[in-house]
Amino acid sequence: MGGIQAGEILSNLERSDMPNRPFIVGNWKMNGLRSQMAEARAIDRGAARHVGVRVAVAPPFTLIAAMAEDAHAIAVGGQDCHQQQSGAFTGDISAAMLKDAGATFVIVGHSERRAMHGETDAVVKAKAEAALEAGLEIIVCVGETEAQRDAGQAEAVVCAQLDGSLPVGEGAAPRLTVAYEPVWAIGTGRVASPADVAAMHGAIRARLATLFGEEGAEISILYGGSVNAGNAAELLATDEVGGALVGGASLTAESFLAIVAAALPQAD
Ligand code: 13P
Repeated sequence: MGGIQAGEILSNLERSDMPNRPFIVGNWKMNGLRSQMAEARAIDRGAARHVGVRVAVAPPFTLIAAMAEDAHAIAVGGQDCHQQQSGAFTGDISAAMLKDAGATFVIVGHSERRAMHGETDAVVKAKAEAALEAGLEIIVCVGETEAQRDAGQAEAVVCAQLDGSLPVGEGAAPRLTVAYEPVWAIGTGRVASPADVAAMHGAIRARLATLFGEEGAEISILYGGSVNAGNAAELLATDEVGGALVGGASLTAESFLAIVAAALPQAD
């Protein structure tokens, strides 16, 4: 491939341009010091070579501004926001602050937030609405625990999370991405089988149609949970999988860009 044109780089940031591109998002969780900005720059350079894939990184709050300033081909986002836009909430960060720092999206409802910070569906929905209000795109996470799956409740749990967590107001659907992350697959090396992923993503798609009507068909549904370079191609080729939300394997350009590359055949 020759040099990257400015227009191509821009188009990698614009969702409306190529709405069906796979969306690969790195969630750095509580990882990343300024010394790791070189990895982010390498991810950005790699993303510029893969304009058929939409690439994003959600670093810790402390790196958002620096990463957003450096980014040409990736979107930069937050991992959480508060449901209020400002006020006496010591230690919290609002959606408006994320936007001000250069973020264009935020992840809400990650299972680590739900489990470790007691976030209910109602709280997640309030955060999602606050993010939309501030002009951000949102990635809303859902997913069942192992006990819920073993009890045969996985689809019911995930559909209830969708009902309770998704903002359904006017204009929400085009700025919404859903991430299905089974809790038992996060950070464990255990990946959901393609058959289970297809079944769950089909159930999510049906629920999105109920909640959003025709617009529900356009919402990307990402899979997350131990995605790596070795399993990404098969997962990304699975029915109704619009991309991946990647934790551990997004921390280095080498492993993250291998996942981005694995998404390419889908884009062609
Ligand atoms: P891992 O890819 O490390 O399993 O994390 C997945 C995740 O939680 C992304 O949000």
